Amino acid sequence: MPVITCIDDLKRIYARRTPRMFYDYCESGSWTEQTFRDNTSDFNKILLRQRIAVDMSNRSTASQMIGQDVSMPVALAPVGLTGMQHADGEIKAARAAEKFGVPFTLSTMSICSIEDVAENTTKPFWMQVYTLKDDDFMQRLFDRAKAAKCSAAVITVDLQVLGQRHKDLKNGLSAPPKLTVKSVANMMTKVQWGLGMLGTKRRFFGNIVGHAKGVSDPTSLSSWTAEAFDEALDWDRIRQFRKMWDGPLILKGIIDVRDAVQALNVGADAIIVSNHGGRQLDGALSAIRALPAIMDAVGDKIEVHLDSGIRSGQDVLKALAMGAKGTYVGRAYIYGLGAMGEAGVTKALEVIQKELDISMAFCGRRDVTTLDRDILMVPEDFEGRWAK
Ligand SMILES: Cc1cc2nc3c(=O)[nH]c(=O)nc-3n(C[C@H](O)[C@H](O)[C@H](O)COP(=O)(O)O)c2cc1C
Repeated sequence: MPVITCIDDLKRIYARRTPRMFYDYCESGSWTEQTFRDNTSDFNKILLRQRIAVDMSNRSTASQMIGQDVSMPVALAPVGLTGMQHADGEIKAARAAEKFGVPFTLSTMSICSIEDVAENTTKPFWMQVYTLKDDDFMQRLFDRAKAAKCSAAVITVDLQVLGQRHKDLKNGLSAPPKLTVKSVANMMTKVQWGLGMLGTKRRFFGNIVGHAKGVSDPTSLSSWTAEAFDEALDWDRIRQFRKMWDGPLILKGIIDVRDAVQALNVGADAIIVSNHGGRQLDGALSAIRALPAIMDAVGDKIEVHLDSGIRSGQDVLKALAMGAKGTYVGRAYIYGLGAMGEAGVTKALEVIQKELDISMAFCGRRDVTTLDRDILMVPEDFEGRWAK
């Protein structure tokens, strides 16, 4: 195994081993990708305050997210088509997460189905749910998650319409991939990936095909997705979803203070400050810059989590010190998965935990649950002063 010391190492191997279509699908933001870039570069604007001669022994990264014990407050975010990044990808990532002691969130648009992931893991995972028009499908999705013993539902509220990623359109992204001269030529150079895919039967959208009305074969899936998402979603509809699911509920995709306040009223257990990794509204604020105002408004009333742009344990440390109780990584673990399967996801989590732990020590702290802004140097204009 090559010596892996950071997430970028995994990304380089991932880029070599994964078909271009799926690499591009992961490594893109919408339109000009400004928000996608800001998500990571804004973390770099926050500096850490080093302390010395403070007892740094007996440190702990253990915490809780929505009342569940975690070995560090870093969950795996829901990522569609994970089973195309690596054969049986969702099962492999879920296994790595459960061994590491962090939550795995399964996307509605996964390749391995809810039932399949449940059968091949031993601990409860979280189920991400898109807000679709079809009530029957929604209720069945929640029921299936319950039957599979999922311990939380994550409802993604920032995808009523789909942000455009130029590369996906140009590549003709699909699952399974369309066989064009270009895609076949590229896939032939990805031997390990290809052998993995030949060895699995999981190549379609496992939660949709055979479960959504009118989608018995995968070729009708693209028309189903175009029709299925609910452009008319409002807070009453989100309240209906709250009634369909009686377990812990997390609302994902909040970036504006007013929406965070609304989320309080629907009875969610947590919100995720997120701009979908820069894949939805290009030109939106980065998640880390949106966090302080949301913390001020609702931080003492609801658990606040954050994703979008986290590539290191230092990023996690900054989000926690700003008040987030939990964080999620999307691309950072997909790089690991595409590079080395389950072992790569484990490696990504190890890298992040080590960076988190050592950076925390440098800041003179021993416990991730007691971090505060005192360890950070945040530029005065970090949040931005916007004209009314
Ligand atoms: C390839 C890819 C697919 C994604 N698919 C989903 C999805 O199916 N459901 C969802 O709620 N979010 C999805 N997301 C967003 C992630 O859950 C998460 O918000 C984002 O990846 C966080 O940003 P990061 O990648 O910079 O960590 C996806 C993100 C990526 C990169």
